[in-house]
Amino acid sequence: MIRKYVYGEPFETEAVVEKMEAGPGSEFVGIGQVSLTDGFTFLYQMAEDDIVYGLGEANRGLNKRGYCYISNCTDDPNHTEDKRSLYGAHNFIVISGEKNVGLFFDYPAEITFDIGYTRSDLLMVSSKEANLYLYVIEGESAYDIVKQFRKMIGRSYIPPKFAFGFGQSRWGYRTQEDFFKVAEGYRKNDIPMDMIYMDIDYMQDYKDFTVNEENFPDFPAFVEEMRKQGIRLVPIIDAGVKVEEGYSVYEEGVEKGYFCKREDGSEFVAAVWPGDTHFPDVLNQDARKWFGGKYRFLIDQGIEGFWNDMNEPAIFYSREGMDDLLLTLRKYAGEDVDRIPLQELEKVTGLANAPEDYRRFYHWVDGKRIRHDKVHNLYGYNMTRAAGEAFDEIAEDKRILLFSRSSYIGMHRYGGIWTGDNKSWWSHILLNLKMMPSLNMCGFLYTGADLGGFGADATRDLVLRWMALGVFTPLMRNHAALGTREQEGYQFENVEDFRGIVETRYRLVPYLYSEYMKAALTDDLYFRPLAFVYPEDSFAAGVEDQVMLGDEAMIAPVYTQNAKGRYVYLPERMMLVKFRKDGEYSKEIFEKGHHFVEVALDEVPLFIREGRCIPLVKAAKCVEELDTKSPEMVGFEGAEYVLYEDDGVTKEYEKEGRYRKLRK
Ligand code: GLC
Repeated sequence: MIRKYVYGEPFETEAVVEKMEAGPGSEFVGIGQVSLTDGFTFLYQMAEDDIVYGLGEANRGLNKRGYCYISNCTDDPNHTEDKRSLYGAHNFIVISGEKNVGLFFDYPAEITFDIGYTRSDLLMVSSKEANLYLYVIEGESAYDIVKQFRKMIGRSYIPPKFAFGFGQSRWGYRTQEDFFKVAEGYRKNDIPMDMIYMDIDYMQDYKDFTVNEENFPDFPAFVEEMRKQGIRLVPIIDAGVKVEEGYSVYEEGVEKGYFCKREDGSEFVAAVWPGDTHFPDVLNQDARKWFGGKYRFLIDQGIEGFWNDMNEPAIFYSREGMDDLLLTLRKYAGEDVDRIPLQELEKVTGLANAPEDYRRFYHWVDGKRIRHDKVHNLYGYNMTRAAGEAFDEIAEDKRILLFSRSSYIGMHRYGGIWTGDNKSWWSHILLNLKMMPSLNMCGFLYTGADLGGFGADATRDLVLRWMALGVFTPLMRNHAALGTREQEGYQFENVEDFRGIVETRYRLVPYLYSEYMKAALTDDLYFRPLAFVYPEDSFAAGVEDQVMLGDEAMIAPVYTQNAKGRYVYLPERMMLVKFRKDGEYSKEIFEKGHHFVEVALDEVPLFIREGRCIPLVKAAKCVEELDTKSPEMVGFEGAEYVLYEDDGVTKEYEKEGRYRKLRK
């Protein structure tokens, strides 16, 4: 059962697609207490054993209890344990225990989730203004509530099937030759690959919807040449449009009034990669349509996928911020450094993503002007929506790969997300794993992290272990920052170990794709916490480093350095399959309970549930070359599996004959 309450005058985020009457937001909403004396506060008394799920892309555990999280889309690449805000804002939580309650706070500005942080038994959700919709969902279990929520927010984005292949990325590939070298590194070493991502250096001076002509003299021919090798190029698009006379996107945007403006009506200037930029007002329908239409420039040249970046939106500094800093520095020029007050010096580090800058520009929505900070969390969502809506017109029945860095619930209908700038840290393998089910709960199915870690230098073993987790995430992309150690699969010794892991992904693509499609088409989860599948099992409820994958399997990646394996908890009897680099696999049955399982660096472990089986095919160099006619079935004798298969290109998901029964 879902109840919708309205407080004040909410902004219509369009996160929810199901039409529902809203009751007046009272102070008592059945299960919790609302206070409106100082903004909005929702209070809920948690029972001792209650688990709190949700919040999508957020820090810390699968069980969010015991910390404080702030939905405030932020470009912060240092995801240490103390961080409260990451790139996304996913305001859905589920309290699971004797009583089960789901809560969605449809509010596009900053909102705080104090989940037993101030007081261990108290859940407090608060925002400065009381203008929001609150959805209260009751159901028989946390899982049931999640499914109701997913139905309410609409079908998740479905990418083309090639997007289930492996992709290589690195900030720093610049010329055509750089890309050919990566392709060669993979193809020569027989490591499968479907995508190479193009980071900002493919553009001319970081200008969206341009290509550097010197480095790519014939871009369509280059795209075509890569395509012949079975590789798709996936360019990045940044939120900020460079301010430059003669650049058509800039000039058109100014002329039509499609950029975000300051209070005085002038275009707001934010410095990002290209230097001064303007932000397209993607919350405005006309501007959104205009910006989305620009993707055609690359689609017309053969491009079939994009990643949207810097769309929190990230601001290195604003004109105002920089002027203020320069003034301050001038004031103290020639002074003894000791005499400069600390708060003045802090202006240097406080330049980026400054809260005051988000109060300096406005959107124009449905005839009303609205200050950015009041709708801050919707920017990445609407930038991605701009592209998604445009694709429906540009390539009506064709799926285009699309994912974003920043997001809000609702964006899950238009694209996937990657979890932003992580680090080559072992702890981030575990964080990657924990985020996946939470993201699925919030509708984001096409997700993955930068495998091998974005910032910091990776080591060979870390990349191998992380890729072995990435085998199972719908988005499987190795990405690294400029200046870090090179971490493409062929950069380390014993390249066959990397080949083996990526090949395992391809052997499993029919299964992974089938489970993805079933989850998307029925508003279900691809990754589930163990407790959703084994609600009666008290051990399962506490497991944070294993997740269920589809209906048949469980994953338990190794995430510590020098480990020979790891402990796992099996909530039922399962078969451990270890995929090896020689194209074979070993299998072993484990009884319900705790076990130490050995996993070598070049192996990919997967647990198959009692009485189930999964299809396995031979690896190929790219997804479209996989032969899926008669898969080998791995798992328990007599088990059956229903395989979903389609062309992976068009949107005829529900056409007859998509399901095929396979038997072990
Ligand atoms: C941002 C992105 C990262 C990208 C870089 C350069 O940090 O998150 O993925 O490589 O910008 O474009």
